[in-house]
Amino acid sequence: MTQINDHFATIAFHEGESSEALLADIAAQAAACRRCALCEGRTNVVPGFGNPEARVMLIGEAPGKNEDLQGRPFVGAAGKYLTELLGYAGLTRDDVFIANVLKCRPPSNRNPRPEEIELCTPFLRDQVRAIGPEYLVTMGNFATKFILKTEQGITGLHGKPVSAGRFTVYPVFHPAAAIYDRSKRAALEADFTALGMRLGTSRADAACDVADASERS
Ligand code: URA
Repeated sequence: MTQINDHFATIAFHEGESSEALLADIAAQAAACRRCALCEGRTNVVPGFGNPEARVMLIGEAPGKNEDLQGRPFVGAAGKYLTELLGYAGLTRDDVFIANVLKCRPPSNRNPRPEEIELCTPFLRDQVRAIGPEYLVTMGNFATKFILKTEQGITGLHGKPVSAGRFTVYPVFHPAAAIYDRSKRAALEADFTALGMRLGTSRADAACDVADASERS
């Protein structure tokens, strides 16, 4: 049985103040954060970026070198492929909000440590609360294991939605994994296409609408 991380299972979406204002406040808090040693080596904090009203929030692991330099998530090669994958769902970067489990780059891109996750993830929880997305797309093992509180690997979990009450968790392979292992591309592209079908935004849907309309005329 898949369980959701307790801090996310009980989440109450915000009401009242605008999502944009709440996200700006969270970003300012993250920029000033010195809760763990990762603050010593960062060029920029990478709080996350995108549409404050997004129906889809994507969660990666942690900023890499390019993200640390620019202060934005997924701006390197994996990000370029992620933009392409969003297209399979009929989405653009303007439609979604992209964040990471950690807001600062771990040295040499090492794995995040438990204490860093514990100290940093209140920011992520507050972002989910501010945005109130329909889908949390967890990219890769790291984000998926964290949100779903599971030791099961992404290979067995990808493309299988898990309902979490207020939102649905939708695990996919990490886009970077498909850069090193091209055999993962078909699964990633199919999972993003299926996400678009669920949202009613996919190109396949649009193609069906056109076909339906021409049948009717
Ligand atoms: N990989 C991640 O997990 N996050 C980024 O922002 C970039 C690469």
